[in-house]
Amino acid sequence: MVGMKLAIDFGSANLTIFAENKGIVLCEPSLMIFDKYSGKPIAMGEEAKKMRDRLPASMVEVVPIKDGSVSDYDAACLMLREYINKICMGRLLKPAVLMCVPGSVTALEKKTLIDVLTRAGAGRVCFVEEALAASVGAGVGIRDPKGILICDIGGGISDCAVVSMGRIAAEKSVRVGGNDLTKAIRDYVFREHGIEVGPGTAEEIKKTVGSAIFRTEEICIVAGGKNCETGLPVLFEITSTEVYWILKSYVEEISDCIRSVLESAPVELVTDVAETGILLCGGTANLFGMDRCIEWSVGLTTRRAQQPEDSAALGLGKLWKEKHFLELNGYVFSSSDEED
Ligand SMILES: Nc1ncnc2c1ncn2[C@@H]1O[C@H](COP(=O)(O)OP(=O)(O)OP(=O)(O)O)[C@@H](O)[C@H]1O
Ligand SMILES: [Mg+2]
Repeated sequence: MVGMKLAIDFGSANLTIFAENKGIVLCEPSLMIFDKYSGKPIAMGEEAKKMRDRLPASMVEVVPIKDGSVSDYDAACLMLREYINKICMGRLLKPAVLMCVPGSVTALEKKTLIDVLTRAGAGRVCFVEEALAASVGAGVGIRDPKGILICDIGGGISDCAVVSMGRIAAEKSVRVGGNDLTKAIRDYVFREHGIEVGPGTAEEIKKTVGSAIFRTEEICIVAGGKNCETGLPVLFEITSTEVYWILKSYVEEISDCIRSVLESAPVELVTDVAETGILLCGGTANLFGMDRCIEWSVGLTTRRAQQPEDSAALGLGKLWKEKHFLELNGYVFSSSDEED
């Protein structure tokens, strides 16, 4: 039996795995819970996310990937091994992996990722820039000559690139993503309301009343937290206007990143982008009004991909069918031993 072909997007917020001929077979939060004293893993993925706001003192939350690179080697190996084993059950040969990485990835970060994948049971590995993978997943053809600007706004990083004919002509990334927005909401509620909220509650606030544009019709949400002075449980109200002001500077940083990619792109491609516009991918592209905010701020037509959070994994899945094209363009499959 031959080894499987997998496409892996191991992001700061989610781990998504695509298997050849099957499509997306796994999407789990990139999160693990360990026992603080024994160091044993207690939970990972969705189960860990459900537990994270209610952890006893004996447990600790660990994020395997932060801002696009490995932040906890053992947790990253454990998570990947568990899920790769589940997907490749019964296969004798190791799976070959196409994995996306931020455009700003360093050689050392790639080496660490190859080691992690090898320890997790993968065979040969090839890396593709996340923005390129996302563009393909969002429907941009690798033979389309017209340039288009892609911005993948994930959990930890926003990757912007001008892509043409399946190649990156200019790229820039900024370490701002949905996790920063969630943290900014937690910090604000603590500072201004004197209330501590868990990351899950802050994320819920972001998704429900968060906005990249000023909402003329204000909405609000009632959330629960802990009064910092009394330690007692408390309900509080937070409005879309408050959250808009909390998130504003972060969204501006993403717009600035898009503008600076355009500045560094070749003139013909910039002219193309004036026609083709900006395509937003990544989970944070779902933030209310993100497309309109970027359109107003950069002055170019902006649209959101159909499944923004899955674009990169779907694109890697499509790129598996274009292996020859990848090899012609300098993408190589290698294993941990060949790297040494
Ligand atoms: N409706 C929504 N509104 C605002 N944010 C959202 C929404 N849906 C998802 N998100 C955010 O999208 C982020 C996850 O996106 P994604 O899965 O693309 O990240 P990732 O690929 O894991 O991260 P990265 O590529 O930065 O390493 C999370 O921060 C999540 O809160
Ligand atoms: Mg991502």
